[in-house]
Amino acid sequence: MTRRRRIYEGKAKVLFEGPEPGTIVQYFKDDASAFHNKKHGIITGKGVLNNRISEYLMMRLGEIGVPTHFVRRLNMREQLVREVEIIPIELKVRNVAAGSLAKRFGIPEGTPLPRSIIEYYYKSDELGDPMVSEEHITAFGWAAPQDLDDMMTLSLRINDYLTGLFLGIGLRLIDFKLEFGRLWENEEMHIVLADEISPDNCRLWDVKTNEKLDKDRFREDLGKVEEGYQEVARRLGILPESGPNDLMGPKIVQ
Ligand code: TMP
Repeated sequence: MTRRRRIYEGKAKVLFEGPEPGTIVQYFKDDASAFHNKKHGIITGKGVLNNRISEYLMMRLGEIGVPTHFVRRLNMREQLVREVEIIPIELKVRNVAAGSLAKRFGIPEGTPLPRSIIEYYYKSDELGDPMVSEEHITAFGWAAPQDLDDMMTLSLRINDYLTGLFLGIGLRLIDFKLEFGRLWENEEMHIVLADEISPDNCRLWDVKTNEKLDKDRFREDLGKVEEGYQEVARRLGILPESGPNDLMGPKIVQ
């Protein structure tokens, strides 16, 4: 960790200068935070699992043509990614009422939504990531209308694909958060998926029992937090302990 120049330290990851220009090393920490940094904790082994889970999901998404920043996993806690200009907007895709949406509208948690809903939040720790509309985003120049269009189209495609992938291993994808970045190639700009996809930024419930297997175990003090992350990795067939054949892929649940 000390070999490279540290570019940025976030709540769950550290970014280092990559080995070649235009690359970055993402280091996954075990630190967890919630409620806009009011709650802190360590989830032992989370960084290792999220590195694997995000690698797996980004690779599958890449295979269906979703452009991502992911290049390759380097070791247990680090992955190499393309350097992108992060768009300061978080997109939340929701299929089932939970979390802040359930609270805001008084909808019982677990209620399926009439259709998938996308929300935008402005990335700002000082402001507590306020929810914003397309009007705010384009008026304040955080993203162009075409960027927003691309982000929305990609998010819906990611939602369709991941909903099916998780259903195949007995998990309901309740909601998740995505971040995108701008990548320039041959004078052309592309919007690509960035950050990570892991139980830190997805809600995943067991199909049969509705057991929560994501960061809500930490947020709500449900216990067995590490086990939740491990169970997601296990069902995806990527638990590091499972040896050299640990990229066998998901185990279909009937
Ligand atoms: P919310 O219901 O708390 O708004 O969260 C919706 C989804 O977004 C949930 O899967 C958790 C994820 N999320 C993040 O990844 N980062 C955040 O800062 C917040 C508030 C939520």
